[in-house]
Amino acid sequence: MITIIGAGKIGSAAAFNILRYRVSDVVLVDVVENLAKGEALDMMQVAPAIEFDGKIIGTKDFGEMEGSDIVIITAGQARKTGMARIDLMNKNAKIVKSIVKEVVKHAPDCKLMLVTNPVDVMTYVAYEESGFERNRVFGMGNILDTLRFRSYIAMELNVSREDVRALVIGEHGDSMVPLVEYTSVSGIPITHLLKEEQIEKIVKSTITSGSDVIKLKGSTTYAPAAGIAIMADAILRGRNRVMSVSTFLQGEYGFSDVSIGVPVIFGRNGVEKILELELMPETKRRFEKSVAIIKKTMAHTNIN
Ligand code: 2OP
Repeated sequence: MITIIGAGKIGSAAAFNILRYRVSDVVLVDVVENLAKGEALDMMQVAPAIEFDGKIIGTKDFGEMEGSDIVIITAGQARKTGMARIDLMNKNAKIVKSIVKEVVKHAPDCKLMLVTNPVDVMTYVAYEESGFERNRVFGMGNILDTLRFRSYIAMELNVSREDVRALVIGEHGDSMVPLVEYTSVSGIPITHLLKEEQIEKIVKSTITSGSDVIKLKGSTTYAPAAGIAIMADAILRGRNRVMSVSTFLQGEYGFSDVSIGVPVIFGRNGVEKILELELMPETKRRFEKSVAIIKKTMAHTNIN
């Protein structure tokens, strides 16, 4: 069973994907009276049309997460006009900490996925607060960046998105690092297919893609929800997918005491193995900068 905490757009769309692709039953929790209940009822009524038998429960009771294999935290505030990023971080760190306390109480053996932004900092907060082993506390960010990167490459080349394989590492934010040197179309390095200016344009679009959607419709929904479902599926079906997730580093890539997106083998136990890739000097420099940005952010956040 999967519990999703936060029945906003992303949490609800993720619940729907998980049901629709028959990954698991879902408990959807939200503190807002009747919100999760209403979403669950709406989703339950779709079942005959698209044929899924999974159960969906909507509730405000955290106790309903009892026995969950995965708990996904999407709850938190979005930035409002006039609110500094740092205020958002402090508010969300407080929310995430209080939810993690409930998770430890009701689902102590779960895998814990963070979606709340800034996701790398929130993954760190949840890891510290939960006391769980680091393999089972991770953040969904770079898988979403990778979906966007792959989409833009496919569009530029007019080829199937399915054939584009890629990785994005680093902060789920402006300092993310699309790994151009490890990106291919059915094994053909993209550097053989695209000019440098085209790749640069794609990298830029990938970095701004989240805020581009937010500018147009106020929030992102379907792409993050897809990222969540991919990760949930990898855990419950023990698929050992190779993807980037935010994870707590203990010396990998030369860094410790920070959660950031790196490539991993992702399966039944969450992060089964961190893959330490050889990075080109410029990529390495950008990854180091990304770590520095997250660490600086954490230093200014009241996370303790
Ligand atoms: C995004 O980039 C919400 O972080 C999420 O769409």
